[in-house]
Amino acid sequence: MKPYITLGIETSCDETGAALYHSEKGLLSDALFSQDHHHAYGGVVPEIGSRVQLERINPIISSALEQAQLDLNDVDVIAVTNRPGLAGSLLVGVCFAKAIAGALNKKIIGINHIEGHVFSPFLEFDVPFPHICLTSSGGHTSLFLVRGFGEYEILGQTADDAAGEAFDKIAKMLGLAYPGGPEIEKRAALVDFQDFFRYPRHKPKTLDFSYSGLKTAVMYDLVKKNAYDMKTKKFTGDDELINKVASSFLACVADVFVEKLERAIKQHPDIKALTFVGGVSRNKFIRERIEQLAKKYELPLFIPSPQYCIDNGAMIAFVGNYKAAQGKFSDLYLDVQP
Ligand code: KG4
Ligand code: ZN
Repeated sequence: MKPYITLGIETSCDETGAALYHSEKGLLSDALFSQDHHHAYGGVVPEIGSRVQLERINPIISSALEQAQLDLNDVDVIAVTNRPGLAGSLLVGVCFAKAIAGALNKKIIGINHIEGHVFSPFLEFDVPFPHICLTSSGGHTSLFLVRGFGEYEILGQTADDAAGEAFDKIAKMLGLAYPGGPEIEKRAALVDFQDFFRYPRHKPKTLDFSYSGLKTAVMYDLVKKNAYDMKTKKFTGDDELINKVASSFLACVADVFVEKLERAIKQHPDIKALTFVGGVSRNKFIRERIEQLAKKYELPLFIPSPQYCIDNGAMIAFVGNYKAAQGKFSDLYLDVQP
């Protein structure tokens, strides 16, 4: 097969990403724009998200091409996230990709965003198969058994909120900015990541996750402590309480991750590695907890660098690259599946 170049486009939520991947040389360039328009709202506002995607997509693709000193004519395959995500945001990337593919007669491939996260460690590491992948971001929390490129099965997933979403909601409850994950981590660090309040752990004997109960438990505990007004939805406690709640919440999330991963490892003793991916995998405290677990089972652990933990075009280009090799192309009827 002749070498080929894949342009990856990611617009599923509030990041606009574009990257170029060479089938023999690897990643050639990677450009990203992260919206900060949602801070005041405590979460992503879909209407704003898609409008900003529309503004940013052209400059970000141009920037990826410039970095690689290429132009659109040099691209062979266009890989674009078409599922899951916010419909309006996904549509911007998919319409753009279809326009280029149609006008310049390029191949197009619709990519599952979560598959992008699952294979994101391969941008930097040669991860052995089979392995177990914990994906945790604002939209998804899942455990996968990964057997090969594009070959994976779900072992467990969240029944309600994703872990990242829970970070964002708890942060909002405490009056902290969006995205909540980094804010909670900073606050927890101030009190040494101690577990002050022992929030309930979700413990069914499956590999599924659930975070809505934890969110409610934190809220009622705050009400009991006279630190949250249910009517105005405002936090009324002090700084010290914010730190303690943040720390106890983080300790709880980490405990559940470790417990589920350990259960999955025991069920699949033939695995050769662990990976931890998605926005929440930026969290140093959780990374350390998972590192300890990996050591206990003598498994190598692969976690992407921070820029590949969050949404990015590089992981989409990578998946597009192997799907092209497998001949798994889409056609110009490609639609979004929010
Ligand atoms: O992967 P990502 O960029 O987007 C989705 O696909 O959803 O993940 C974003 C999520 C947000 O919920 C954010 O709060 C969380 O990742 N996050 C963190 C940290 N940094 C980002 N969560 C915990 N600790 C962090 N340091
Ligand atoms: Zn994501």
